[in-house]
Amino acid sequence: ENAQLKDIISHAKEYGFVYPSSEIYDGLQAVYDYGAYGVELKNNLKRLWWETMTRVQDNIVGIDASIFMHPTTWKASGHIDSFNDPMIDNKDSKKRYRADVLVEEHAAVFERAGDIEKANALTGALARLLEAEDLAGVRDLITNEGIKCPISGTSNWTDVRQFNLMFSTQVGSVAEDSTTIYLRPETAQGIFVNFLNVQKTARMKVPFGIAQIGKAFRNEIVARQFIFRMREFEQMEMQFFVRPGTELEWYQNWADTRMKWHLALGIPAEKLRKHNHEKLAHYANAAMDIEFDFPFGFKEVEGIHSRTDFDLKSHQEFSRKKQQYFDPEVNQNYIPYVVETSIGADRLFLLTLCNAYTEEKTEEKSRTYLKLHPAIAPVKAAILPITKKDGLPEKGKEIVELLKYDFNIIYEDASSIGKRYARQDLIGTPFCIAVDHQTLEDNTVTIRHRDTTEQERVPISELHGRIAEATSF
Ligand code: GAP
Repeated sequence: ENAQLKDIISHAKEYGFVYPSSEIYDGLQAVYDYGAYGVELKNNLKRLWWETMTRVQDNIVGIDASIFMHPTTWKASGHIDSFNDPMIDNKDSKKRYRADVLVEEHAAVFERAGDIEKANALTGALARLLEAEDLAGVRDLITNEGIKCPISGTSNWTDVRQFNLMFSTQVGSVAEDSTTIYLRPETAQGIFVNFLNVQKTARMKVPFGIAQIGKAFRNEIVARQFIFRMREFEQMEMQFFVRPGTELEWYQNWADTRMKWHLALGIPAEKLRKHNHEKLAHYANAAMDIEFDFPFGFKEVEGIHSRTDFDLKSHQEFSRKKQQYFDPEVNQNYIPYVVETSIGADRLFLLTLCNAYTEEKTEEKSRTYLKLHPAIAPVKAAILPITKKDGLPEKGKEIVELLKYDFNIIYEDASSIGKRYARQDLIGTPFCIAVDHQTLEDNTVTIRHRDTTEQERVPISELHGRIAEATSF
């Protein structure tokens, strides 16, 4: 693993952000738990997304659909037939790989060595074979290229097979009348099947959107790079229903809006890029990713997809219930087209950590801190009396009372003030508020700013306003 990613993973664990799931049993691959600061950071990211979608936009409302859905949903959505990854096993190591990833990694070796032509030829050949669903061809490509298993070092491969990514389980108490149902692999379908419910009850007019945050599950085989690719993860999706023929305009529009959102969160422009899909999913007529420059390279964070009327039309066909909207402006009934924005909350979390993680080295000192936008920082301010005596803790707790109903505040009075500052830096707290003897006399405190470490004297009465201003988005 990349050195910087390793540092970020251990930082996340040591300072209460992310732990491997069921760690006392040595963890469960591609499943993770969020700790005290992790859950705050993740909730802040989700809240920010939710507010920019549902509150700031006056034509988007939210829903919260179930993880379990009627099994026909997945037949209609195409997930039972098409939500597959091409897998290949190495006969010697018995390890299973995604065949496309093996080829892509092989191509990346040529790319890094400067042989761009060869790299492009490989990825081009792969794309054509996958498009044609020529699995034998993919296997031939792997063997002809002599691609080796990283574990066994041999190129003794099985055939390539399609492997469905959905998890299934049984509902019903006895075997005979049990039904196979799936854990949703995307939250989007909960929105599609509720399209008319929401449109009618919230009295929405096209164009309008429905937003949702919720868990999704995929039986990912290549589970690496920490929380980048998980088996249980959270999606934040928004499906925007538009008049047919206007979808590509809305698609560009949403791609720009979403890019601006990432920039407003403090992600430098050079670390973000748009990547157009050449190979489109079964439901799309245009698709792009917003990619971030992770320690392991530019990778997808968010997808913007023009999904046409594929889903609603298919649900209409399978359910035999009309999924049409009457548009009074054009006096017509139609099935709306859909543009979706889809981002993983966990992947956004990883982006945020990678972007914030800062190691600063000067001649005199070195420090590590998380340069988080104050709006998403898990703790907004730490109240730190410089000693445990002389009434300073009591004064500190009074300040906590003033702030804690509006902001997540930490109070700490043990250990040296320098150590306490360092600890807040490590979890990304933007403000450390020191309470000293002067505070008792004139009701002022020292604010120490995380990024500059500069300090200033401020009346207690100004604290609330200062923090509110800095933490607004
Ligand atoms: N409804 C469209 C959809 O699900 P996707 O590109 O498969 O599209 C959208 O997924 C986003 O969900 C991705 O951009 C990524 O942020 C997140 N995501 C997908 N699979 C993930 C996984 N295994 N672990 C973490 N996040 C994932």
